[in-house]
Amino acid sequence: MELLRNVVVLLHIVGFAVTFGAWVAEAAARRFRFTRVMDYGLLLSLLTGLALAAPWPAGVELNYPKIGVKLVILVVIGGVLGMGSARQKRTGEPVARALFVTVGVLSFGAAAIAVLW
Ligand code: HEM
Repeated sequence: MELLRNVVVLLHIVGFAVTFGAWVAEAAARRFRFTRVMDYGLLLSLLTGLALAAPWPAGVELNYPKIGVKLVILVVIGGVLGMGSARQKRTGEPVARALFVTVGVLSFGAAAIAVLW
C-alpha cells in the first residue's frame, strides 16, 4: 500500500511537471499560448491529489490546510486556463501576458507550497 501511495505521489508530481513544463516550453518559444498539455497535466494533478487526500494507508498524517490551499490554487489555474484558452480560440491571438504569467507563477507556487510548507 505504501508503494502504491508513493506511485500516486510520483504521478502527482508528473502532473505538475507536465503543466509547468508545457508552460516553460511556450515561454521559451515566445509563443505565450495555453495548450491542451497544460490542461492534461492539471487534470492529472487534481485526480492524483484527490486520491492522496484520503488517509491511506492507515496511520498516514496529512496536512489538510496545505492540501486545501493547493486545491484552491489548482481551481484558479483551471479557471485561468479555461478563460484564456476560450479567448485564444476565439481571437486566434496568444493570451494576455498577465494571464500567461499567472499560470506559471501559480503552478510553481503550488509546488513550492507542497515542498516547503
Ligand atoms: C498545481 C497543483 C499542485 C501541485 C504543483 C502539487 C505538488 C505536490 C508535490 C510536489 C507533492 C510532493 C511533495 C509532498 O509530499 O509534499 C505533493 C504531494 C501531495 N499533494 Fe499536491 N500538488 C498540487 C495540487 C494538489 C491538490 C489539488 C491536492 C488535493 C486535493 C493535492 C494533494 C496532495 C497530497 C495529499 C500529497 C501527498 C502528501 C503525502 O502523502 O505526504 N495536491 N503535491
